[in-house]
Amino acid sequence: MIKYFYIESYGCQMNIYDNELIITILTNNNFIYVDNIYKADLILINTCAIREKAETKIYNRLLFFNSIKKKKVLGLIGCMANRIDYKYYFKKNMLNFIIGPDQYRQLPNIIKSLNDNRYSYNVILSNDENYNDIIPNKLYSNNKVSSFVTISRGCDNMCTFCVVPFTRGREKNKSPIRILNECKRLYDLGYKEVILLGQNVNSYLWNKKSFIKKNIINKKKSINFTNLLEMIAKSLPNIRIRFSTSNPQDMSIEVIKIIKKYNNICKSIHLPFQSGSNRILKLMKRKYTRLEYINLVEKIKNIIPDCSLSYDIITGFCSETNKDHKDTLNLMKYIKFDFGYMFCYSHRKGTYAYKILKDNVPIKIKKYRLKEIIRLQRKHSYYRLKKNINSIQEVLIEGISKKNKNYWYGRNSQNSIIVFPKTNENIGELVNVKIINNTSATLIGDNVENK
Ligand code: 5AD
Ligand code: SF4
Repeated sequence: MIKYFYIESYGCQMNIYDNELIITILTNNNFIYVDNIYKADLILINTCAIREKAETKIYNRLLFFNSIKKKKVLGLIGCMANRIDYKYYFKKNMLNFIIGPDQYRQLPNIIKSLNDNRYSYNVILSNDENYNDIIPNKLYSNNKVSSFVTISRGCDNMCTFCVVPFTRGREKNKSPIRILNECKRLYDLGYKEVILLGQNVNSYLWNKKSFIKKNIINKKKSINFTNLLEMIAKSLPNIRIRFSTSNPQDMSIEVIKIIKKYNNICKSIHLPFQSGSNRILKLMKRKYTRLEYINLVEKIKNIIPDCSLSYDIITGFCSETNKDHKDTLNLMKYIKFDFGYMFCYSHRKGTYAYKILKDNVPIKIKKYRLKEIIRLQRKHSYYRLKKNINSIQEVLIEGISKKNKNYWYGRNSQNSIIVFPKTNENIGELVNVKIINNTSATLIGDNVENK
């Protein structure tokens, strides 16, 4: 009989949210969560397929799990589910089941049925949101200040480099009432911040008339991301709201205005641009040009001058030349982003790029270009953070600084990390701190101001 389960997770914030969903589904069905692999009867490995490196790590982990397996049951879930050679892993008895991201509701039955039927495989992707009626119980989450809330799953964009539309399927949105209820519950539990998640939050759209609340959104027939943000910001004025990810083509002026209008919506936008070259953007099937991206950033900065901006970049995409790379560096120099996530291109089986284009930039060049991008970003981060010296920043305290236990760490509205000396504050408190110094990653504050 399987009773105790453990989850090991890789990849993005969506997977962290999914772990909480799975823990809720399984504990509601009398399974017991343990945070120690050796105490578990069942090990779940929640996987990521976005780059080859992530997959390689997981394949190595499977070898390790098998070396300790003994009588443990092993289930692979998440984004690698429909990519892995399941016949091989079942034949070698290295996995007992494989479940895709839209089938977690089946987990209790699958686990219970493993006695009769040793291997189970269900990677069917759904066109509708499957988890509308499950709110994560948060019993085992480490962070009690800030919580993810997934508002949509999957992606319809089909960027040519990306496996997400294949691993997570079409975009499906949760109902606004369901999202609001989840945020309210988090607030009641003492959470101070929600981070709304989706592969492309700005394309959120819900149009079931029955969910429209006249007093919140008058007479509109559908609820888009702007409406959703406003609804949460109005209903929960004491909770901070962040969101990720925004794709440039779907970022409307209305959304930017709502971010400005409400104090509790954080002034920070994650806006991946992937490449500064129009030629590469076209090959990637991104739906904007370099100029459109710049215009959008200028609109954001005009409406919200203190809004921070971060991005994702892929370096060394198929046929990327030195000139394309220079275009990326120049775009970065023009905007001087606050922060960025940078990756070497990884040629993923199943994508359009894999089928049609050649992964012809040598790894050495990819890495060299990545280094240049990282170096430049470090300079820009330092420049952006430096501008905060002598200002007073409102910080949500998230915990004790890892480097110095006499310091708190937290974030301001712009998502910058701030550390400052502990006096008599508490985790989860919002405090005002004067910034006295900075590195390229952190703001350093003085003692709390308003006590
Ligand atoms: N190779 C490298 N990076 C990728 N990303 C997505 N697919 C790939 C790939 N094949 C990056 C993109 C995306 C982020 C989540 O991961 O920059 O925005
Ligand atoms: Fe992938 Fe593009 Fe969708 Fe992002 S928007 S998940 S990069 S397909």
